[in-house]
Amino acid sequence: MLEIERRLEAERLAALENLEKVQDQAQLDQWKQNHLGKTSVTMSAFGQVVTVPNEERPAFGKAVNAAKVVLETALAGKLALIKQKELEARMSQGTIDVTLPGRGLRRGRIHPLNLTAQEIYRVVGQMGFQIYQSPEVETDDFNFTFLNIPPHHPARDMWDTFYTDKDNIVLRTHTSPGQIHAMREYCPQPIRVILPGACFRYEQQDQSHEIEFMQVELLAVDKGITFADLKGTLQDFARRMFGEQTQIRLRPSYFPFTEPSAELDVECFVCGGKGCGVCHGGGWLEWGGCGMVHPRVLEYGGYDPEIFTGFAAGMGVDRATLLRYQVDDIRYFRNNDIRFLEQF
Ligand code: PHE
Repeated sequence: MLEIERRLEAERLAALENLEKVQDQAQLDQWKQNHLGKTSVTMSAFGQVVTVPNEERPAFGKAVNAAKVVLETALAGKLALIKQKELEARMSQGTIDVTLPGRGLRRGRIHPLNLTAQEIYRVVGQMGFQIYQSPEVETDDFNFTFLNIPPHHPARDMWDTFYTDKDNIVLRTHTSPGQIHAMREYCPQPIRVILPGACFRYEQQDQSHEIEFMQVELLAVDKGITFADLKGTLQDFARRMFGEQTQIRLRPSYFPFTEPSAELDVECFVCGGKGCGVCHGGGWLEWGGCGMVHPRVLEYGGYDPEIFTGFAAGMGVDRATLLRYQVDDIRYFRNNDIRFLEQF
Protein backbone atom coordinates (compact mmCIF):
# COMPACT_ATOMS: atom_id res chain seq x y z
CA MET A 1 0.00 0.00 0.00
CA LEU A 2 1.27 3.44 -0.88
CA GLU A 3 1.83 6.05 1.75
CA ILE A 4 -0.87 8.24 0.26
CA GLU A 5 -3.40 5.43 0.35
CA ARG A 6 -2.70 4.99 4.02
CA ARG A 7 -3.32 8.67 4.60
CA LEU A 8 -6.61 8.48 2.70
CA GLU A 9 -7.76 5.61 4.85
CA ALA A 10 -6.83 7.44 8.08
CA GLU A 11 -8.61 10.57 6.82
CA ARG A 12 -11.74 8.59 6.04
CA LEU A 13 -11.91 7.16 9.57
CA ALA A 14 -11.26 10.57 11.12
CA ALA A 15 -13.88 12.26 8.95
CA LEU A 16 -16.58 9.73 9.78
CA GLU A 17 -15.74 9.99 13.45
CA ASN A 18 -16.03 13.81 13.30
CA LEU A 19 -19.32 13.53 11.50
CA GLU A 20 -20.76 11.65 14.48
CA LYS A 21 -20.24 14.76 16.57
CA VAL A 22 -21.96 17.14 14.13
CA GLN A 23 -25.17 18.54 15.65
CA ASP A 24 -26.53 21.20 13.33
CA GLN A 25 -26.36 22.74 9.89
CA ALA A 26 -23.52 25.15 10.74
CA GLN A 27 -21.32 22.35 12.05
CA LEU A 28 -22.15 20.30 9.01
CA ASP A 29 -21.05 23.11 6.71
CA GLN A 30 -17.78 23.32 8.59
CA TRP A 31 -17.32 19.55 8.35
CA LYS A 32 -17.92 19.70 4.60
CA GLN A 33 -15.26 22.36 4.20
CA ASN A 34 -12.76 20.37 6.28
CA HIS A 35 -13.24 17.00 4.64
CA LEU A 36 -14.60 17.68 1.16
CA GLY A 37 -13.21 21.16 0.52
CA LYS A 38 -10.52 21.89 -2.10
CA THR A 39 -7.64 21.60 0.41
CA SER A 40 -8.99 18.51 2.22
CA VAL A 41 -6.87 15.36 2.22
CA THR A 42 -9.28 13.51 -0.01
CA MET A 43 -9.83 16.22 -2.60
CA SER A 44 -6.17 17.19 -2.85
CA ALA A 45 -5.35 13.51 -3.45
CA PHE A 46 -6.92 13.92 -6.88
CA GLY A 47 -4.08 16.27 -7.75
CA GLN A 48 -1.52 13.64 -6.78
CA VAL A 49 -2.70 11.01 -9.22
CA VAL A 50 0.02 12.16 -11.64
CA THR A 51 2.79 11.47 -9.10
CA VAL A 52 1.84 7.80 -8.77
CA PRO A 53 3.79 5.26 -10.88
CA ASN A 54 2.04 4.34 -14.11
CA GLU A 55 1.07 0.77 -13.26
CA GLU A 56 -0.48 1.76 -9.94
CA ARG A 57 -2.31 4.78 -11.26
CA PRO A 58 -5.69 3.17 -12.13
CA ALA A 59 -6.00 1.48 -8.75
CA PHE A 60 -5.03 4.68 -6.98
CA GLY A 61 -7.54 6.73 -8.95
CA LYS A 62 -10.26 4.32 -8.01
CA ALA A 63 -9.36 4.46 -4.34
CA VAL A 64 -9.48 8.28 -4.25
CA ASN A 65 -12.84 8.29 -5.96
CA ALA A 66 -14.26 5.68 -3.59
CA ALA A 67 -13.06 7.70 -0.58
CA LYS A 68 -14.83 10.77 -1.92
CA VAL A 69 -18.08 8.89 -2.55
CA VAL A 70 -18.07 7.46 0.99
CA LEU A 71 -17.73 10.93 2.48
CA GLU A 72 -20.40 12.42 0.22
CA THR A 73 -22.87 9.66 1.06
CA ALA A 74 -22.25 10.13 4.76
CA LEU A 75 -22.78 13.88 4.35
CA ALA A 76 -26.14 13.41 2.59
CA GLY A 77 -27.32 11.00 5.30
CA LYS A 78 -26.39 13.44 8.05
CA LEU A 79 -28.10 16.31 6.26
CA ALA A 80 -31.38 14.38 6.09
CA LEU A 81 -31.08 13.57 9.76
CA ILE A 82 -30.52 17.20 10.74
CA LYS A 83 -33.51 18.35 8.65
CA GLN A 84 -35.71 15.73 10.29
CA LYS A 85 -34.56 16.80 13.76
CA GLU A 86 -35.26 20.46 12.95
CA LEU A 87 -38.77 19.60 11.79
CA GLU A 88 -39.47 17.57 14.91
CA ALA A 89 -38.20 20.41 17.08
CA ARG A 90 -40.43 22.93 15.33
CA MET A 91 -43.48 20.67 15.62
CA SER A 92 -42.94 19.94 19.30
CA GLN A 93 -42.74 23.67 20.04
CA GLY A 94 -46.38 23.84 18.91
CA THR A 95 -46.11 26.90 16.67
CA ILE A 96 -48.75 25.52 14.26
CA ASP A 97 -52.23 26.77 15.11
CA VAL A 98 -54.44 23.90 13.99
CA THR A 99 -57.57 25.92 14.74
CA LEU A 100 -56.90 28.41 11.92
CA PRO A 101 -59.32 28.01 9.01
CA GLY A 102 -57.81 26.58 5.81
CA ARG A 103 -57.16 28.67 2.74
CA GLY A 104 -60.23 28.32 0.57
CA LEU A 105 -59.94 27.47 -3.11
CA ARG A 106 -61.77 29.97 -5.28
CA ARG A 107 -64.29 28.23 -7.44
CA GLY A 108 -64.13 29.03 -11.13
CA ARG A 109 -67.35 29.40 -13.06
CA ILE A 110 -68.62 29.15 -16.57
CA HIS A 111 -68.39 32.27 -18.72
CA PRO A 112 -71.81 33.80 -19.48
CA LEU A 113 -71.29 33.38 -23.24
CA ASN A 114 -70.64 29.68 -22.71
CA LEU A 115 -73.69 29.42 -20.46
CA THR A 116 -75.81 30.63 -23.36
CA ALA A 117 -73.96 28.43 -25.85
CA GLN A 118 -74.45 25.37 -23.63
CA GLU A 119 -78.17 26.06 -23.46
CA ILE A 120 -78.25 26.28 -27.26
CA TYR A 121 -76.31 23.00 -27.64
CA ARG A 122 -78.73 21.30 -25.24
CA VAL A 123 -81.75 22.46 -27.21
CA VAL A 124 -80.47 21.73 -30.72
CA GLY A 125 -78.97 18.46 -29.49
CA GLN A 126 -82.48 17.33 -28.62
CA MET A 127 -83.45 18.30 -32.16
CA GLY A 128 -80.81 16.04 -33.69
CA PHE A 129 -77.97 18.46 -34.42
CA GLN A 130 -74.42 17.56 -33.45
CA ILE A 131 -71.63 20.02 -32.63
CA TYR A 132 -69.04 20.46 -35.37
CA GLN A 133 -65.90 22.47 -34.59
CA SER A 134 -64.26 24.35 -37.43
CA PRO A 135 -61.22 26.67 -37.50
CA GLU A 136 -61.31 30.29 -36.33
CA VAL A 137 -58.39 31.12 -38.60
CA GLU A 138 -59.40 30.53 -42.17
CA THR A 139 -58.29 30.97 -45.73
CA ASP A 140 -59.86 33.63 -47.88
CA ASP A 141 -61.49 30.85 -49.92
CA PHE A 142 -63.38 29.36 -46.99
CA ASN A 143 -64.43 32.70 -45.50
CA PHE A 144 -65.52 34.16 -48.85
CA THR A 145 -65.08 32.41 -52.19
CA PHE A 146 -66.58 29.01 -51.30
CA LEU A 147 -69.50 30.92 -49.79
CA ASN A 148 -70.18 32.44 -53.20
CA ILE A 149 -68.39 35.72 -52.43
CA PRO A 150 -65.68 35.92 -55.14
CA PRO A 151 -62.77 38.38 -54.75
CA HIS A 152 -64.37 41.18 -56.74
CA HIS A 153 -67.74 40.92 -54.96
CA PRO A 154 -68.93 44.03 -53.06
CA ALA A 155 -70.53 41.79 -50.42
CA ARG A 156 -67.04 41.28 -49.00
CA ASP A 157 -67.50 44.69 -47.39
CA MET A 158 -70.23 43.26 -45.17
CA TRP A 159 -67.70 40.87 -43.61
CA ASP A 160 -64.58 42.99 -43.43
CA THR A 161 -62.03 41.14 -41.36
CA PHE A 162 -58.45 41.05 -40.12
CA TYR A 163 -56.01 40.02 -42.80
CA THR A 164 -52.57 38.59 -42.07
CA ASP A 165 -49.20 38.90 -43.83
CA LYS A 166 -49.59 35.32 -44.92
CA ASP A 167 -51.24 35.08 -48.28
CA ASN A 168 -54.93 34.31 -47.98
CA ILE A 169 -55.01 33.71 -44.22
CA VAL A 170 -57.78 35.66 -42.47
CA LEU A 171 -59.67 35.57 -39.19
CA ARG A 172 -63.12 34.25 -39.97
CA THR A 173 -65.94 36.78 -39.89
CA HIS A 174 -68.70 34.23 -39.38
CA THR A 175 -69.18 30.54 -38.68
CA SER A 176 -70.41 29.94 -42.24
CA PRO A 177 -67.00 28.66 -43.52
CA GLY A 178 -67.69 25.69 -41.23
CA GLN A 179 -70.51 24.76 -43.63
CA ILE A 180 -67.92 23.92 -46.28
CA HIS A 181 -65.75 21.94 -43.82
CA ALA A 182 -68.74 19.91 -42.62
CA MET A 183 -70.01 19.27 -46.15
CA ARG A 184 -66.62 18.17 -47.41
CA GLU A 185 -66.27 15.80 -44.48
CA TYR A 186 -69.74 14.24 -44.68
CA CYS A 187 -70.56 14.35 -48.41
CA PRO A 188 -72.62 12.50 -49.68
CA GLN A 189 -74.33 11.75 -46.36
CA PRO A 190 -77.08 13.94 -44.88
CA ILE A 191 -75.94 16.61 -42.39
CA ARG A 192 -77.41 18.11 -39.21
CA VAL A 193 -74.75 20.14 -37.43
CA ILE A 194 -74.34 23.17 -35.21
CA LEU A 195 -71.15 25.17 -35.83
CA PRO A 196 -70.16 27.25 -32.80
CA GLY A 197 -67.26 29.56 -32.05
CA ALA A 198 -65.46 32.87 -32.12
CA CYS A 199 -65.72 35.20 -35.11
CA PHE A 200 -63.87 38.43 -35.80
CA ARG A 201 -64.79 41.61 -37.64
CA TYR A 202 -63.12 44.87 -38.43
CA GLU A 203 -65.53 47.03 -36.43
CA GLN A 204 -65.72 50.23 -34.52
CA GLN A 205 -66.18 48.93 -30.98
CA ASP A 206 -69.10 50.25 -28.94
CA GLN A 207 -71.78 49.03 -26.52
CA SER A 208 -73.15 46.56 -29.01
CA HIS A 209 -70.21 45.92 -31.37
CA GLU A 210 -67.07 43.96 -30.69
CA ILE A 211 -64.19 42.94 -32.93
CA GLU A 212 -64.61 39.43 -31.52
CA PHE A 213 -67.94 37.75 -30.91
CA MET A 214 -69.44 34.28 -30.78
CA GLN A 215 -71.79 32.71 -33.27
CA VAL A 216 -73.64 29.46 -33.64
CA GLU A 217 -74.73 28.26 -37.04
CA LEU A 218 -77.20 25.54 -37.91
CA LEU A 219 -76.71 23.55 -41.11
CA ALA A 220 -78.92 20.82 -42.52
CA VAL A 221 -78.25 19.17 -45.89
CA ASP A 222 -80.33 16.31 -47.24
CA LYS A 223 -82.59 15.29 -50.09
CA GLY A 224 -85.83 17.25 -50.12
CA ILE A 225 -85.14 19.89 -47.49
CA THR A 226 -87.37 22.93 -48.00
CA PHE A 227 -87.82 26.44 -46.66
CA ALA A 228 -90.68 25.05 -44.55
CA ASP A 229 -88.13 22.85 -42.75
CA LEU A 230 -86.02 25.93 -42.07
CA LYS A 231 -88.91 27.89 -40.66
CA GLY A 232 -90.25 24.95 -38.64
CA THR A 233 -86.83 24.20 -37.17
CA LEU A 234 -86.22 27.82 -36.18
CA GLN A 235 -89.70 28.09 -34.68
CA ASP A 236 -89.16 24.93 -32.66
CA PHE A 237 -85.70 26.10 -31.61
CA ALA A 238 -87.05 29.48 -30.40
CA ARG A 239 -89.84 27.83 -28.40
CA ARG A 240 -87.47 25.40 -26.72
CA MET A 241 -85.05 28.24 -25.95
CA PHE A 242 -87.40 31.05 -24.87
CA GLY A 243 -90.72 29.42 -24.04
CA GLU A 244 -93.70 27.63 -25.60
CA GLN A 245 -95.48 30.77 -26.81
CA THR A 246 -92.47 32.40 -28.52
CA GLN A 247 -93.07 33.58 -32.08
CA ILE A 248 -90.45 34.09 -34.79
CA ARG A 249 -90.54 36.29 -37.85
CA LEU A 250 -88.59 35.94 -41.11
CA ARG A 251 -87.90 39.07 -43.14
CA PRO A 252 -86.65 38.76 -46.74
CA SER A 253 -82.97 39.65 -46.94
CA TYR A 254 -79.77 38.99 -48.84
CA PHE A 255 -76.77 36.76 -48.20
CA PRO A 256 -74.53 35.57 -51.04
CA PHE A 257 -74.43 32.02 -49.64
CA THR A 258 -78.18 31.49 -49.21
CA GLU A 259 -81.07 31.81 -51.68
CA PRO A 260 -83.65 32.77 -50.68
CA SER A 261 -82.35 34.55 -47.57
CA ALA A 262 -84.04 36.00 -44.52
CA GLU A 263 -83.40 37.86 -41.30
CA LEU A 264 -84.58 35.97 -38.25
CA ASP A 265 -86.39 37.92 -35.53
CA VAL A 266 -87.62 36.47 -32.25
CA GLU A 267 -90.52 37.86 -30.31
CA CYS A 268 -89.06 39.93 -27.48
CA PHE A 269 -88.83 37.63 -24.49
CA VAL A 270 -88.55 40.52 -22.08
CA CYS A 271 -91.98 42.02 -22.87
CA GLY A 272 -93.54 39.12 -24.75
CA GLY A 273 -93.94 41.22 -27.90
CA LYS A 274 -95.82 44.14 -26.35
CA GLY A 275 -92.90 46.52 -26.86
CA CYS A 276 -90.33 47.61 -24.27
CA GLY A 277 -86.96 49.28 -23.91
CA VAL A 278 -85.02 46.18 -24.86
CA CYS A 279 -86.79 45.75 -28.23
CA HIS A 280 -87.04 49.52 -28.71
CA GLY A 281 -90.82 49.30 -28.64
CA GLY A 282 -91.07 47.03 -31.68
CA GLY A 283 -91.75 43.74 -29.90
CA TRP A 284 -89.15 41.86 -31.99
CA LEU A 285 -85.45 41.15 -31.48
CA GLU A 286 -82.98 40.64 -34.30
CA TRP A 287 -81.39 37.27 -33.72
CA GLY A 288 -79.59 36.22 -36.92
CA GLY A 289 -79.60 35.43 -40.61
CA CYS A 290 -80.78 32.35 -42.45
CA GLY A 291 -81.77 30.86 -45.79
CA MET A 292 -81.56 27.92 -48.16
CA VAL A 293 -77.96 26.94 -48.91
CA HIS A 294 -77.02 28.44 -52.30
CA PRO A 295 -76.56 25.78 -55.03
CA ARG A 296 -73.04 27.02 -55.68
CA VAL A 297 -72.16 26.59 -51.99
CA LEU A 298 -73.54 23.03 -52.07
CA GLU A 299 -71.28 22.41 -55.05
CA TYR A 300 -68.23 23.80 -53.26
CA GLY A 301 -69.11 21.39 -50.45
CA GLY A 302 -69.23 18.47 -52.88
CA TYR A 303 -73.02 17.98 -53.07
CA ASP A 304 -75.00 17.88 -56.31
CA PRO A 305 -77.56 20.72 -55.98
CA GLU A 306 -79.88 18.86 -58.38
CA ILE A 307 -80.22 16.13 -55.74
CA PHE A 308 -79.54 17.83 -52.41
CA THR A 309 -80.89 20.95 -50.75
CA GLY A 310 -80.17 22.45 -47.36
CA PHE A 311 -80.76 25.30 -44.96
CA ALA A 312 -78.44 27.37 -42.80
CA ALA A 313 -78.96 29.87 -39.99
CA GLY A 314 -76.41 31.92 -38.09
CA MET A 315 -77.06 33.53 -34.70
CA GLY A 316 -75.09 35.76 -32.37
CA VAL A 317 -74.41 34.32 -28.92
CA ASP A 318 -73.25 37.66 -27.48
CA ARG A 319 -76.49 39.41 -28.45
CA ALA A 320 -78.54 36.62 -26.90
CA THR A 321 -76.46 36.72 -23.72
CA LEU A 322 -76.84 40.51 -23.41
CA LEU A 323 -80.59 40.07 -23.54
CA ARG A 324 -80.75 36.96 -21.40
CA TYR A 325 -78.89 38.54 -18.48
CA GLN A 326 -79.82 42.18 -19.21
CA VAL A 327 -76.18 43.20 -19.62
CA ASP A 328 -75.88 46.67 -21.13
CA ASP A 329 -72.44 46.55 -22.76
CA ILE A 330 -71.04 43.79 -24.98
CA ARG A 331 -67.46 44.77 -24.10
CA TYR A 332 -67.86 43.35 -20.58
CA PHE A 333 -67.72 39.83 -21.99
CA ARG A 334 -64.07 39.92 -22.97
CA ASN A 335 -62.30 42.35 -20.69
CA ASN A 336 -61.94 39.72 -17.98
CA ASP A 337 -63.11 41.79 -15.04
CA ILE A 338 -63.66 39.30 -12.24
CA ARG A 339 -66.30 41.57 -10.65
CA PHE A 340 -68.42 41.15 -13.77
CA LEU A 341 -67.77 37.45 -14.34
CA GLU A 342 -68.51 36.55 -10.71
CA GLN A 343 -72.14 37.57 -11.17
CA PHE A 344 -73.01 34.53 -13.28
N1 PHE B 1 -73.04 34.22 -41.82
C1 PHE B 1 -74.05 35.22 -41.70
C2 PHE B 1 -73.50 36.38 -40.88
O1 PHE B 1 -72.65 36.20 -40.08
C3 PHE B 1 -75.31 34.68 -41.07
C4 PHE B 1 -75.96 33.61 -41.88
C5 PHE B 1 -75.68 32.28 -41.63
C6 PHE B 1 -76.86 33.92 -42.88
C7 PHE B 1 -76.27 31.27 -42.38
C8 PHE B 1 -77.46 32.92 -43.62
C9 PHE B 1 -77.17 31.61 -43.36
O2 PHE B 1 -73.93 37.50 -41.04
